[in-house]
Amino acid sequence: MSTPVDKEVAWDKTKTIMSKTDAKGTIEYVNQVFVDVCGYSEAELVGKPHSIIRHPDMPKTIFKILWDNIQKGINFHAIVKNMAKSGEYYWVITDFDIIRDPSGQIINYMARRTSVPSQTIEKYIAPLYQKILQVEQAGGIEAGEKYFGQFLNEQGKDYITYIEDVILEFR
Ligand SMILES: Cc1cc2nc3c(=O)[nH]c(=O)nc-3n(C[C@H](O)[C@H](O)[C@H](O)COP(=O)(O)O)c2cc1C
Repeated sequence: MSTPVDKEVAWDKTKTIMSKTDAKGTIEYVNQVFVDVCGYSEAELVGKPHSIIRHPDMPKTIFKILWDNIQKGINFHAIVKNMAKSGEYYWVITDFDIIRDPSGQIINYMARRTSVPSQTIEKYIAPLYQKILQVEQAGGIEAGEKYFGQFLNEQGKDYITYIEDVILEFR
């Protein structure tokens, strides 16, 4: 894994970063934008899990919620900080498509990522994720999930609604 660098990747934020995985999350396809933004070649990415671009600032709780939802076949939006090969970061909001075989079994996930307004990250997401991460570091993922659950309860929203609302404020 690269060492994080506290600098944002310079990328064309009008573009969509796409990837497709099998049911376990192993990357089967990436578009050219994915390659351009993260700096890993297609050959370095295909066959690997997405944790190749996982940023250490990301709380485990968020990925747990992500997987819990997509495995149930629920399309999900997640705001994720990713890490390029250079160590630089890029924030994205992800949309999923869930692809099933004729028997209804999930066979693929498709992720489409677009940029997130930096004000949304600074005002809402970075401080929230930092707090969840601290709670996880002190008390494990269960503590992180509990903290985040209480946070959402106070907001009266689930994660998806919360994300949709904070995104709208600066769009
Ligand atoms: C279609 C799809 C796209 C994903 N995209 C990302 C991503 O952009 N960044 C990321 O860190 N994890 C992404 N994940 C989640 C990873 O599978 C993984 O759960 C995460 O990187 C945390 O790593 P860990 O589960 O090994 O702790 C994605 C998963 C799926 C199924």
